[in-house]
Amino acid sequence: MAAARIIAVAGKGGVGKTSVSAAMVRLLTRANPQKRILAIDADPAIGLSTALGIEPGRTLDDVRGLVSVEIAADPDGAENTLASVRRVLLASIQHCGGFDFFAIGRPEAAGCYCAVNAYLRQVIGLLISGYDCVVVDGEAGIEQVNRRVLERVTHLILVTDASRKGTQVISTIRRVADELTMAEYYGAIINRVGDPATLELVDTGDIPVLAVIGEDTSQAAFDILGKSVFDLPDDAEILRGTSEMLKRLALL
Ligand SMILES: Nc1ncnc2c1ncn2[C@@H]1O[C@H](COP(=O)(O)OP(=O)(O)OP(=O)(O)O)[C@@H](O)[C@H]1O
Ligand SMILES: [Mg+2]
Repeated sequence: MAAARIIAVAGKGGVGKTSVSAAMVRLLTRANPQKRILAIDADPAIGLSTALGIEPGRTLDDVRGLVSVEIAADPDGAENTLASVRRVLLASIQHCGGFDFFAIGRPEAAGCYCAVNAYLRQVIGLLISGYDCVVVDGEAGIEQVNRRVLERVTHLILVTDASRKGTQVISTIRRVADELTMAEYYGAIINRVGDPATLELVDTGDIPVLAVIGEDTSQAAFDILGKSVFDLPDDAEILRGTSEMLKRLALL
């Protein structure tokens, strides 16, 4: 079996990361019904499940809680921590017909997400084993790249809108990813481009542009109604652009 492709989506807040991730899951599952595909919602705010039409189940934070309760109850148990994490994790992955799903979730305890991110980094190897293709919808900004949560990623998709803020964020992510020698392939998607003339002003530096996606009225309307990507019309702009990006990377 070829090595798994781990495709992560990153960028500034609100630029379309979840929409592109969901579109990827739809395109990859429809094109490869025989392949094992996992979608990971790595954004603590959780949005990918809605976009994929799934009721969220047990999150990574729940898994962390369950495993620590088990270990506290039976510290001398025969099973080691890793085996216990693996068992609880595998039982928590949702099987959604065509693909599997898992969300990292929000920590129960108030405060920072560092603990869940550190945990995700440690268990991502367990999560991804056995899959041909993994799509990770990352949280906004650069933290997950910085903290090496996404270090196993093979393809890094940097989503931006036409704004300078958006392109600055993807340039920073790209630089940090480079320093950490993360990802074999990377490229940008410029999303929600209303007027193609504005494209001339968008500077992604040395990040190759894999696709430009226009304003998609069906995507915006579906999001308002909380409808799933699987109900989008086949000719939806977000699907066209995401498909172009996947083809450029020979993933479709
Ligand atoms: N090409 C597009 N055309 C129209 N609307 C779009 C397009 N792409 C995304 N949107 C809309 O923009 C909003 C933000 O998109 P999305 O949730 O995918 O962004 P995000 O980067 O995941 O945000 P966050 O950083 O909050 O996770 C949503 O309402 C979505 O429907
Ligand atoms: Mg999102």
